[in-house]
This record gives sequence, C-alpha cells and structure tokens, in this order.
Amino acid sequence: MKNIRIGIIGGTGGIGKWFARFFLNEGFKVQISGRKTGPDLPTLTRECPIVIVSVPIKATCQVIEQVGPLMPAESLLMDLTSLKEEPVKAMLRSSCCEVIGLHPLFGPEIKALTGHNVVICPARTKKWLPRIKAVFKKSRARIIETTPERHDEWMAQVQVLNHLNTITMGLALKRSGFDLKELYPVSTPAFDAKMELLKKIFGPNAGLYTQIITHNPHSDRVFKDYQQSLSELKKMIIRRNSEGLQKKIEKTKLFVSV
Ligand SMILES: NC(=O)c1ccc[n+]([C@@H]2O[C@H](COP(=O)([O-])OP(=O)(O)OC[C@H]3O[C@@H](n4cnc5c(N)ncnc54)[C@H](OP(=O)(O)O)[C@@H]3O)[C@@H](O)[C@H]2O)c1
Repeated sequence: MKNIRIGIIGGTGGIGKWFARFFLNEGFKVQISGRKTGPDLPTLTRECPIVIVSVPIKATCQVIEQVGPLMPAESLLMDLTSLKEEPVKAMLRSSCCEVIGLHPLFGPEIKALTGHNVVICPARTKKWLPRIKAVFKKSRARIIETTPERHDEWMAQVQVLNHLNTITMGLALKRSGFDLKELYPVSTPAFDAKMELLKKIFGPNAGLYTQIITHNPHSDRVFKDYQQSLSELKKMIIRRNSEGLQKKIEKTKLFVSV
C-alpha cells in the first residue's frame, strides 16, 4: 500500500492540502493538482491508482464527471466533499472503478487525526475499503460508516442548522448597529465562544459554509424548523412570557436520550 501514488485534485488548497501532507507522512507518494497546477487529468489518472476529489462543492460533480471516465476499473475514486449524496452518485455514474465517499469532520487547522471523526460511505468497493480504513485506524481517527443519504441527513443538523444559526446571529449583530469593539470588553465566555464561530464563517472561507448550506438536499426542511422555532419564541418574548419560555425549554428534554 505504501508505494501507491495518490492523486489529489484540489490538493493545492484547504483540506486537500492537509490530506496531501497526511498521506505523505504515512509514506504514500502524492501528486496534487489545482486549476493551474500539477498534471492534467489523463496523466493524473494514469499515474495514480487512487484519486481523491477535493474541490469546492459547487465544482465537485463537474470535476468528478471529467475524472470518472478516465479511472481504470481496478483503481479507486474518492472525494472529501462535505456532502455525500450527489458526489457519490456522480462518482458511480461516471466511472467503472471502486468508489468510496469520505467526509473528514474537521478543517485543515487540526494537527493530527487522533480522535477526529471521518465519515466513510463505501459505494462500490472490494479490495480498497479495508486498506483505506486501515490507514485511518492507524492514525486513530474515529471512522463512521454510513450511506451518503444518511450522511446528508446528519449534516443537515450538524452543519446546516449549526451554520444557519451562526449566520443569523452575525446578521442580527450587524443589524443592531453595535460595533464589536464596544462589546468585546463586556464579553462573557459564552459570547467569546460564539465570536470564534462567527470569525470562521464571516471570514475568508465564507464560500465553504454557504455551499454546505445551499447544496444540502435537506436545507429546506431545516430552514422551516428554524423559522418555526423563531416564530414560537417571538410570541413568548413579545408577551414577556418567561414561564412559558422556561416550560418550552424544559419540555423539550433535548438531552434526555444522550
Ligand atoms: N476546508 C474544510 O474545513 C473542509 C472540511 C471537510 C471537507 N471539506 C470539503 O473539501 C472540499 C474542498 O474544500 P476546501 O475548503 O479545501 O476548498 P479550498 O480551500 O477552496 O480548496 C479547493 C481546491 O480545489 C481547487 N479547485 C477549485 N476549483 C476547481 C476546479 N473547478 N477544478 C479543479 N480544482 C479546483 C483549488 O485549486 P486552485 O485554486 O489551485 O485551482 C484548491 O486546491 C469541499 O468539497 C469541502 O466541502 C472541506
């Protein structure tokens, strides 16, 4: 396995670059490409029995459609996309090789895989799956195996709802007219923690978060739930109904089954 060459399309940026370093440290040979860097797709697929697609969500299926037909039957095509249903379908449709969808549940800021979650969606695979799992297990990642459909349902809560909530707070803060410079000196630990989340989304990577929200097939449902919850809260807050609000929170029993 160690002598195998892994090609990472999108290996010049973000999480692709992180995995290029990871696989290099694990003893693999790694070939990266971007829009203007590295080999063209025919060369990459000829030289690399494993190819990983790690490009922005909005470009992912288009890139997969280009690379898929070039993959030899005995090779492995994977992706690192934050969504799984559409990319995995595109990989199956456009190639005849083995296909595994991956979603690392962390960003390129982490130092090592230890304790971090990686979702694996085996789609059409025989010989490669145990080898790929072995690489992650060795690095002590937590592997969660599921279907692309279930993954996207989970991510609708873990990422779409989560980021929607953070964006709503950022927009409301801006609308309030307060300058953050005035609020920082009176910050609480809870506000500080929220500010760290806001910095991520209202920063240079905004495109990643907006694509995670707008491309998830369950975003409409999440938005409806969110809007309904806000409407319920609005009624109680406007009537200064603290007992009602407290009862609502207590009756929700959010952590009972945890
Ligand atoms: N960043 C994260 O925290 C994170 C975590 C988990 C999963 N992901 C997933 O990983 C994927 C990449 O995200 P990222 O944050 O790493 O993005 P990124 O930092 O913007 O990097 C994207 C990479 O794709 C290349 N690229 C862009 N458009 C392309 C195209 N049309 N054809 C070929 N290559 C193209 C870029 O190369 P050039 O600029 O050199 O052309 C760059 O290397 C996404 O699917 C995302 O959902 C990201």
